[in-house]
Amino acid sequence: MTDTTSSKKFLRALQGETFDVPPIWLMRQAGRYLPEYREVRADAGSFLNLCYNPELACEVTMQPIRRYGFDAAILFSDILVVPDALGQLVEFVEGEGPKLEPVRQPSDVAKLSTSWIDQRLAPVYETVSRIKAELPSSTALIGFAGAPWTIATYMVEGGSSRDFAITKRWALGNRETFAELIDLIVEGTIEYLSEQVAAGADALQLFDTWASAVPYDRLQDLVIDPTRRIIEGVRAKHPGVPFIGFARGIGAALEDYVAGTGINAVGLDSTVPVKWAAKTLQGRVTLQGNLDPQYLLVGGDSMKSAAIDILENLSGGPFVFNLGHGIIKETRPEEVEALVETVRQYGK
Ligand code: CP3
Repeated sequence: MTDTTSSKKFLRALQGETFDVPPIWLMRQAGRYLPEYREVRADAGSFLNLCYNPELACEVTMQPIRRYGFDAAILFSDILVVPDALGQLVEFVEGEGPKLEPVRQPSDVAKLSTSWIDQRLAPVYETVSRIKAELPSSTALIGFAGAPWTIATYMVEGGSSRDFAITKRWALGNRETFAELIDLIVEGTIEYLSEQVAAGADALQLFDTWASAVPYDRLQDLVIDPTRRIIEGVRAKHPGVPFIGFARGIGAALEDYVAGTGINAVGLDSTVPVKWAAKTLQGRVTLQGNLDPQYLLVGGDSMKSAAIDILENLSGGPFVFNLGHGIIKETRPEEVEALVETVRQYGK
């Protein structure tokens, strides 16, 4: 894993190498903005069926690689396959997003178990092996999972939420019983990610999309410690496997997150000042980010100058170009092409 002569530029950037033209991939690079994705999606039936169909999941993972030649592919799956594999009822309702049978008390947690993880998620591991066999040798494969806090918000709220009121009331009001839920997710996620690496994932990203909802006095036990425990758990089986941590919306607390988790790279959302990140974080970890995905809808010179500003500020050290959050489904594929072109022409 510490192979510094890797032919994969993305992995070399995670190991601390600086490039004139940084590697690029984009969060949600596979998805509904691509007509070829919508076609496969329509044939697959439900969204979870697509996630658990190795042939189709491999196909949609490869679609943006064929189109744009990104430096990394990201496994096509979803963070909510973990609650599903723990035994919670998970559905994706067309036009409404995810719906889960809520976990609200210790007796609900007691019904869940990590013992079904590998059986339920075997198709995802199969997808990883298939992608690995199809990818060009210069393209890295990223596996992923949701971080425990973000997964817990979906499990407790029963879906997406605006204020995370139920989850926060539990977490802030009863630290001990909430910790049991977090521990269960940590354990399941260690297993899930370890098997992704065994099947061929080169690096792993942890998505903590809703880290912004955690008050700073609880960031350590709800965000940083669970992330660190997952990284240590996976590395006990796969020494040195590189991790990217994406804790969205935590601002200056990214310093604590970088120092406390053991990540190799940190995903920056679009609110993070790039000059601050370069000065404060880049000496310790590789940076990844952080173009606002709305720029891809605006396109043209506004997009180009925003991308170049990021490149000027972050490409002086270890850096991976990305967005600050996932591609929006209304994005035109031509604009993604123009962005890739802008990044690849940088400094030439
Ligand atoms: O290309 C990739 O990035 C890989 C695949 C991927 C998906 N979801 C596919 C998907 C990844 C990495 C995710 C992560 C994910 N899923 C996150 C964390 C990242 C983020 O965006 O903040 C979260 C919070 C989820 C949960 C989730 N999945 C929600 C809330 C929804 C519904 C909202 C929506 O956009 O429709 C999903 C569905 C989902 N996951 C889709 C895709 C392509 C769209 C569903 C469809 O095609 O019908």
